Amino acid sequence: MRVQVLIIGAGPAGLLLGQCLLREGIDALILESRSREYVLGRIRAGVLESATVALLERLGVAGRLHAEGLAHEGFDIAFAGERLRIDLAALTGRSVTVYGQTEITKDLMDARDAAGGKTSYEVSDVAIEGFDTDHPRVTYTHKGNSQSIDCDFICGCDGFHGVSRASVPPAAIRLYERVYPFGWMGVLSDTPPVHDELIYVSHERGFALCSQRSRTRSRYYVQCPLSEQVDEWPDERFWAELRRRLPGEAAKTLATGPSIEKSIAPLRSFVAEPLRFGRLFLAGDAAHIVPPTGAKGLNLAASDVYYLAEALVGFYKEKSIVKMDQYSARALSRVWKAERFSWWMTKLLHRFPEEGEFGRRMQLAELEYIAGSRAAQTALAENYVGLPY
Ligand code: PHB
Repeated sequence: MRVQVLIIGAGPAGLLLGQCLLREGIDALILESRSREYVLGRIRAGVLESATVALLERLGVAGRLHAEGLAHEGFDIAFAGERLRIDLAALTGRSVTVYGQTEITKDLMDARDAAGGKTSYEVSDVAIEGFDTDHPRVTYTHKGNSQSIDCDFICGCDGFHGVSRASVPPAAIRLYERVYPFGWMGVLSDTPPVHDELIYVSHERGFALCSQRSRTRSRYYVQCPLSEQVDEWPDERFWAELRRRLPGEAAKTLATGPSIEKSIAPLRSFVAEPLRFGRLFLAGDAAHIVPPTGAKGLNLAASDVYYLAEALVGFYKEKSIVKMDQYSARALSRVWKAERFSWWMTKLLHRFPEEGEFGRRMQLAELEYIAGSRAAQTALAENYVGLPY
């Protein structure tokens, strides 16, 4: 068997790339080790930059997003009794859209099905070879049968733990990483959000975030030690801890209810360089991880895919390898800036016990400075709505 482009991973990066290629008539197959239901069951972030929305529009998959997504023109940062609104619209002329990654994944899967795109779920033993030659090949097992596919290019969209990055010889890749000494305990609940915009909270007891998926579904997080397990956090403990960290008005009006999903996520900054190895390209979490504080993960997958689709379209439609040669540098330039912003937001808002009281006072001084400086707010806002592609 043969395809032009073999995409590994049917998360947002792989599905987005698949949709870009489908619309250009480039033949691609997506391989996914999990089931469709598993992929759709993962709860991930939900804040889209306007450029991500624009990409989904161009791909013809923004109908439900426009009907159900919520435009947010600002968000709050609560600290030391103050509540600062970052007015994204006034500071940047742009806004963000709250729409769950799960919903985008579903929309992309539906669009792919409707267009006849090929996806094989629950494949195992995926191995990639020959990407340093002109004849890459991917082998795997599907429904008990061994398969071998020849292709022109392999796109590794298979996440942090995927086989793609792991197949690159260690001498050819450089990894940069920071692991943070805490996690986020997240709860999804069918309760009305405590506020119509997001609230990021910097509190002595640790960070908290009030987010949402719709007007009736809330997503809340509290910073927690990495040593803790989900079963140590019954709903009552979560709601009590969240309420203690919220500013007065929000604490009073917080609506609580049974959790419908609860999980602890570690926080990590990670970048692999470069993103191209001959005929293998990495995109999305396979190539980089950001801590969730800046809501950048999915948006970075979208910008990678934008650059990668341009590279592949250039190759097939314009017989040009210029964009292909530029892919790694173009994508990484944007990735590093989003890494910086996510690392900065994380450092600004979380409790770092080892930084002591001096560290806390530096955070408060920086928050006070932002509150009093339109320039500082603009710097924050233009990163939050997303840097240009
Ligand atoms: C979320 O809704 O899950 C979310 C929102 C904003 C963030 C991180 C996560 O910064």
